[in-house]
Amino acid sequence: MLVDPRELLAVAQQGGYAIPAFNVHGLDMVPPLVEVAEAERAPLILQATRSTVEATGWEPLVAVALECARRARVPVALHLDHASDRQLIYTAIRHGFTSVMADGSALPFDDNVAFTRSVVEVAHLAGIPVEGELGYVPRPATAMAQDPEAAGEGPPADLLIRPDEAEAFVAETGVDSLAVAIGTVHGFYRGTPRLDFERLAAIRARVHVPLVLHGGSGLADEHLAKAIVLGMAKVNVATELKAAWSQAVRQAVAENDDIDPRHVLRAARRALQTVAVAWLRRCGAVGRAT
Ligand code: 13P
Repeated sequence: MLVDPRELLAVAQQGGYAIPAFNVHGLDMVPPLVEVAEAERAPLILQATRSTVEATGWEPLVAVALECARRARVPVALHLDHASDRQLIYTAIRHGFTSVMADGSALPFDDNVAFTRSVVEVAHLAGIPVEGELGYVPRPATAMAQDPEAAGEGPPADLLIRPDEAEAFVAETGVDSLAVAIGTVHGFYRGTPRLDFERLAAIRARVHVPLVLHGGSGLADEHLAKAIVLGMAKVNVATELKAAWSQAVRQAVAENDDIDPRHVLRAARRALQTVAVAWLRRCGAVGRAT
């Protein structure tokens, strides 16, 4: 069933587990992810960025995602990830996304507050929850980047979120969930990330909305588990999923002369599902669907 993610995140936060939010990069990725969530009895958030909706078109993506979500025997939400312009956000809401991210993290604090609050005001009128972001989660130039500057051990401490700012941000904007920079990066890590768990605990003590971990790919089991115990209720995963998909396509094409996309994509779906199941389990989401 298609659901409002607020409820999923609130229950996860109370229960000490996290809802995985899987980025889809094409229409074909949607059904196998929903299928895996059903098989594992896990709630799920599907999410898409601007570049995905530009690649698929709004209507096709929403038609597939909402239909799969509605038919699912587990709760599924559809979230707009990393949107920093209002038009994009309002377009997603008009198309039936169940939540949106207002990403003002590149702005100075006051401007981020003003931008995010203005989005929250409109989104809430439409009954749609908003995820804000504070602090800096670096983005490598490409998802597979191994550049030490881009995908190293995490950003310097002054770019991470401050607990007092987090508290003020939530109070001033009215966001429903908050992405907090504690040292993760988008894309694969080059070395071992330095995650600031003390900071996370301090944020959790002051902020009561569900917290969101960006940059899930490549996180070690013990780091992920600790981040969830300390309060991350939504965990975003993109790079591992698209890497599994693309590697399976590459391999399927290289290993035989089969040019039939249905056969090539069968391998991609299986690879995607293997990674997705692992994340559902690591997040503690298995069996949580009600
Ligand atoms: P990864 O690509 O590192 O999994 O990050 C995903 C993400 O945070 C999407 O918002």
